[in-house]
Amino acid sequence: MTRQLLVTSALPYANGPIHLGHLVEYIQTDIFVRYQRLRGHRVAYVCADDTHGTAIMIRAQKEGRSPEDLIADVASQHRRDFAAFGVSFDHYGSTNSASNLAVCTGIWKNLRARNLIVERKVDRLFDPVQKTFLADRFVVGDCPRCGTKDQYGDSCESCGSTYAATELKNPRSVHSGASPELRPSSQLFVRLEPLQPFLEEWTQRSGALQPEVANYLAGHFLDKPLQDWDVSRPAPYFGFEIPDAKGNFWYVWFDAPVGYIASTTDWCEKSGGSLDAWWKNPDCEIVHFLGKDITYFHTLFWPALLHVGGYQLPRRVQIHGFLRVNGEKMSKSKGTFVTAARYLEHLDPEWLRYYYASKLSDKIDDLDFQADEFVGKVNSDLVGRVVNLASRSARFVESTGLATHYPDDGGLFARGATAGEAIAAAYEACDFREAMRLVMTLADAANEYVERTAPWTIRKDPARADELRNVCTVVLNLFRQIVVYLQPVLPRLAERASGLFASPCDRWNSTTEPLIGCSIAKFEHMATRVEPERVKAMFVPEAAVPAPSASAPTPADANDALGKEPLAAQVSIEDFQKVDLRVAKIVAAEAVPEAKKLLRLTLSLGSGPTRNVFAGIKGAYEPERLVGRLVVMVANLAPRTMKFGVSEGMVVAAGTDGEVYLLSPDTGAKAGQRLH
Ligand code: MSP
Ligand code: ZN
Repeated sequence: MTRQLLVTSALPYANGPIHLGHLVEYIQTDIFVRYQRLRGHRVAYVCADDTHGTAIMIRAQKEGRSPEDLIADVASQHRRDFAAFGVSFDHYGSTNSASNLAVCTGIWKNLRARNLIVERKVDRLFDPVQKTFLADRFVVGDCPRCGTKDQYGDSCESCGSTYAATELKNPRSVHSGASPELRPSSQLFVRLEPLQPFLEEWTQRSGALQPEVANYLAGHFLDKPLQDWDVSRPAPYFGFEIPDAKGNFWYVWFDAPVGYIASTTDWCEKSGGSLDAWWKNPDCEIVHFLGKDITYFHTLFWPALLHVGGYQLPRRVQIHGFLRVNGEKMSKSKGTFVTAARYLEHLDPEWLRYYYASKLSDKIDDLDFQADEFVGKVNSDLVGRVVNLASRSARFVESTGLATHYPDDGGLFARGATAGEAIAAAYEACDFREAMRLVMTLADAANEYVERTAPWTIRKDPARADELRNVCTVVLNLFRQIVVYLQPVLPRLAERASGLFASPCDRWNSTTEPLIGCSIAKFEHMATRVEPERVKAMFVPEAAVPAPSASAPTPADANDALGKEPLAAQVSIEDFQKVDLRVAKIVAAEAVPEAKKLLRLTLSLGSGPTRNVFAGIKGAYEPERLVGRLVVMVANLAPRTMKFGVSEGMVVAAGTDGEVYLLSPDTGAKAGQRLH
């Protein structure tokens, strides 16, 4: 029977690059999706960028551009990375879309109609430096239950408890490092208690959750009345303004999962499908993949919204653990925080797909990336046990093609066909480690056959030409069977093998019938071995990345800025020190209407009077977006009287030919600090 599946991966935040941790999830989901397609089922795999929230707003502000501009850039980077790793979305959308606003609005109306929204005044944490209320994830401090340091404002990674951000001990803002103040704010809440019986039933008895997840929810949340869920945020906030509560925005976690539906809507529009066939159809299996850190959003809040919104509940929520590197959390300073882009500079994406597959199970345990193990799996399993089957036999039948009858192979092919059922069950259960183990057992049997029959010896005797052809027919059929089983993990290998046989390796059923009598294309290399040096080179601590050398500019860096503006005459350190460069904060910015190029900036040096500075950056920056940003100013420049007022300093910027780029310090620097 053909099944219909709607499969999702969690929507990555649009405020950072895709890294090896993310890829655990997107590769895992993609393997599941490709497996279902290989079985002939109908699948829609949708995802999107998660674009809203304070973090994106603040980053855009720091970069002096609009959040829309920022998220468009990040989206194209994300798409490029996913494509490179073979992640085969049917649609990749954005939560900042008209369709998302429409679906959110619909669900919100239903919540109102069922009287599930209440308004209350609450004290929220406010960052006095950034002048913004702080989302839970942007406050860190000590866990109020167990005291573990550096925990986020919503839950503790060490003891697993959840709490309000205001309960954290020694809280500080992730944005500014400042200790947050409490400020009253009027907020909207979704009442979850009336939905508790439904959630109880769905989490504990629907079979959608892994048993350890169901138990966690029973023990940490459902054992007491569910608290109201705080779903609004006051301005300024980058998100959707709540249609019937102006000045309030939906909290990013309200509209993020709705993005699954919105992305499906956009895909249906593009491909002529109907949304209801996917989200309101009990025959469609909705499957969500996500990491353990976002469990309760997807297993309590999200099902509540779907239920009230009149959508189908997920048939399955598949939760995975976190990637660690050499037993530790990924870390920038240790060089173990590896982005997708950095990986691709050094290694083949298909290797990572195989490596993750060989380690992923249906449990939520963490996964450890170990360089030696990675090299071993790729070189001995992938190349040594699988690809070698073809490289040791294909050349011998290039001119003759395969035998016209399938020879006696002692039952090997039949055994491989029978194994298909257990392999399929392992894929279906997301126990990919088991699937890989079963496939490698088949590869071992095939390799034993090659050793025993030794085609390279048979080949030396022209009288044994038929025997050679028979042996190679067996080996290549076993190879093909294995490649089909591995197709969900290694789509590129499967494509190359398809070229060898001039017959696609894209049907699970094709593993039950051997190929006979067909021609064999010239053998082209299918996978190379990893050089351990390349893996080492990928793990470079951030500070140790060598600075680009001035004598050999990289192509992207090459330009003639130096030619256009040659270096100035040498000065002594004393000369340099006469110029007092300071970090300054832009507290106000406005256009000077009479001047074509000028913005009037009000700069703070942390204390003392503010400075008025005219800067020729009107063409490059919108004044509203500059407020709050740190820049570098020449603080001891003699004041200059201009047509529009006195300029009390200068803001530092780079650029030739009319371009302007303001300079900013790294996060952590404070207004008033001197540059040395
Ligand atoms: N934007 C939210 C999800 C919204 S879904 C409606 C989010 N984004 S994320 O970019 O932080 O993470 C995206 C997915 O990647 C999550 O499922 C998360 O668990 C997973 N991972 C992020 N870092 C990870 C590791 N280091 N290891 C494994 N998975 C990780 O959460
Ligand atoms: Zn704790």
